[in-house]
Amino acid sequence: MTATIEACLSPADYQAQAAGGFRDAVCVVFDILRATSVMVAGLANGAAGFVPAAEIAEALAFHPRHRNALLAGERNGVRITAMASGGVDFDLGNSPREYTRDRVRGRMIITTTTNGTRALRACATAKRVAVASFLNLSATADWLAQHQTERIILVCAGTAEHPALEDILAAGALCELLVSRSARAELRDSAETAVRVYREARTDLFGVISRSQNGRRLMANAELRDDVAFCLQRDVSDLVALLGMDGVVRTSA
Ligand code: MLT
Repeated sequence: MTATIEACLSPADYQAQAAGGFRDAVCVVFDILRATSVMVAGLANGAAGFVPAAEIAEALAFHPRHRNALLAGERNGVRITAMASGGVDFDLGNSPREYTRDRVRGRMIITTTTNGTRALRACATAKRVAVASFLNLSATADWLAQHQTERIILVCAGTAEHPALEDILAAGALCELLVSRSARAELRDSAETAVRVYREARTDLFGVISRSQNGRRLMANAELRDDVAFCLQRDVSDLVALLGMDGVVRTSA
């Protein structure tokens, strides 16, 4: 079976298809700095699941439905405080290094981030939705190869309303793996763009990403700068993270 692979390189691309354009597709969502890396790191450390909420108010509204859940996420890159939420200090920010086994094992985590959770929610009508990062890139490629699908869409979450270079690089890296695993992968120009950008940067991913808009923002914050190197670790987890019909991201069974 020939699989066509395309990419949504900016928020406008995926918002335009959110109303039903993903219905026949498997979406793979990237927000590697940092929402999807956080989900992979948290699940690898035993979190029961992540509930992505588009807004702070929605995260608070989900809370009573998930007993004992942690509230997590960021605005402007930092943990959501009582001041920002109207009264509740969130338990966790959006640094993957916070999601240790001690903090998250067995816990459901309701999270709202600027772009990552919004991108996931936009894909809700897709056939399947995988949550990807460099941390679980090969596992995600293997899963896609096993679940033969005719249309794969790589969804780059971006920053505010703009494309984010690091998400395009990760999408390009996944694309390259998919092409190497199947002679039948057919790249649309959007995916070809991601692959070409990745090939250009691959020998110095840390340098290129730490100079990107999100990279610079994180590198300028002493508490967050180590997140960049953390999120660029390749294939440290073999888990596949999937958004279920119930709106929860869990490891695939
Ligand atoms: C997002 O969802 O936009 C990001 O993950 C932002 C961040 O963590 O700083």
